[in-house]
Amino acid sequence: MNVVMIGAGYVGLVSGSCFAEFGANVTCLDINAAKIEALKAGNIPIYEPGLDSLVERNSRAGRLKFTTEFAGTIENADLVFIAVGTPTENEGGHADLKYVYSAARDIAQYLDGYTIIVDKSTVPVGTAREVKRIIADANPQADFDVASNPEFLREGSAIDDFMRPDRVVIGVESQRARAMLLELYRPLNADQAPILVTDLESAEITKYAANAFLATKISFINEIADLCEKAGGDVQAVAKGLGLDSRIGSKFLHPGPGFGGSCFPKDTRALVKLAQDSGASCRIVQAVVEVNHEQKLRMVEKIVRALGGSAQDKNIAVLGLTFKPETDDMREASSLTILPELLRRGANIRAHDPQSMAIAARLLPQAIEYSDELYATAANADVVVLMTEWNEYRGLQLEKLKRFMRGNAFVDLRNVYDQSIMEEQGFSYSSIGR
Ligand code: UDX
Ligand code: UDX
Repeated sequence: MNVVMIGAGYVGLVSGSCFAEFGANVTCLDINAAKIEALKAGNIPIYEPGLDSLVERNSRAGRLKFTTEFAGTIENADLVFIAVGTPTENEGGHADLKYVYSAARDIAQYLDGYTIIVDKSTVPVGTAREVKRIIADANPQADFDVASNPEFLREGSAIDDFMRPDRVVIGVESQRARAMLLELYRPLNADQAPILVTDLESAEITKYAANAFLATKISFINEIADLCEKAGGDVQAVAKGLGLDSRIGSKFLHPGPGFGGSCFPKDTRALVKLAQDSGASCRIVQAVVEVNHEQKLRMVEKIVRALGGSAQDKNIAVLGLTFKPETDDMREASSLTILPELLRRGANIRAHDPQSMAIAARLLPQAIEYSDELYATAANADVVVLMTEWNEYRGLQLEKLKRFMRGNAFVDLRNVYDQSIMEEQGFSYSSIGR
């Protein structure tokens, strides 16, 4: 089967490489010529564990190719996936669909023989139908179907999520498209992954509903953590007690500095807009968005409290900048809100991150210093803030860290450490909801 993946980003590159691993002939097409040149030369533009060897193996086997050209690529495709970005629009909170629609127009010109155009990007209800209209208008002779096949890939474990999914959702309008997509995903049968076939709209809403529900769990536990801080209780024990109820489940109940990343923030905002536009009520998700913003500001207050009530002229060492570990993605990372606010309050900041310092330096104020060496980040620090739970921060040599510092405050925004052990080591320790 010949597959074209438009957009070789976090989602498109992983999905394309995984389809190639399943035996399909895949071409990843991206308008970013520098990215395509890098990929052709064997350089992976993002950090995603396992992706380099997957790309290398499938490129060598001739099943994975890269191009910037629609002409000569689309004609041979059985399936064309659209995996371009769908960022939040500058105004409002709607998903910006201009890249999806421009891809649809470019695809339309070159269609030759029956082809399925599949939306993989997260898009509001009705987008697949609009893609269909655009293609039919641009090329009335085209023989095609549209489909919706949302991704559920977590950065950092995207390949495993693709290869061993909890489910695959496929929205289609025709038996022919259904059969071809089921054939493409047939290698998953060995793992007995449920494949759910729906109409186009249900597939589109399922993606938003799944992300909004997971984001709701996070904002919920963050509010319970706040309650524990004010009324007493340990949120870790509460989360355990909650999660053991199989109707609730234990995942996504970790309190933290607010959710970030390429999906939850933009998808919750887009779902609220979509509901408003459709005349539906979406109060729960609206509250999730607000609570998440407040959570980041609460983290600022927590750090300032650890500094004795003022950040003025205090030295803050930050461990971790990305929105989660095992990625270099900085999109909507909580550090992008928390650190500028601490600077505004007069703090000096030195930061460390295993993967994202170069990217972060372009997004954060210039006043922030970066340290290549983990422990040196804490030199002269009044407080160490653990922002992202990278593995190398889970087993810190605490004595060594403390020797570098001039103060002894440690603010653990991921609840990695144990209060009593930290106090034994001489730290003034605070965490979330305990
Ligand atoms: C994806 C999805 O598109 C988004 O809807 C989903 O919710 C999250 O993941 P992601 O892969 O993370 O986005 O985005 P990014 O890494 O920015 O990759 C998008 C790629 O598409 C980029 O390489 C960009 O150059 C390319 N692109 C963009 C095109 O090839 N054509 C365009 O018109 C626009
Ligand atoms: C998410 C979805 O999980 C995935 O299915 C896909 O739709 C893309 O978006 P991703 O953004 O890569 O994946 O990471 P995820 O592991 O879901 O974490 C998102 C954010 O929530 C991170 O900032 C993380 O730190 C935070 N989080 C997650 C919590 O604060 N607590 C939790 O319990 C879980």
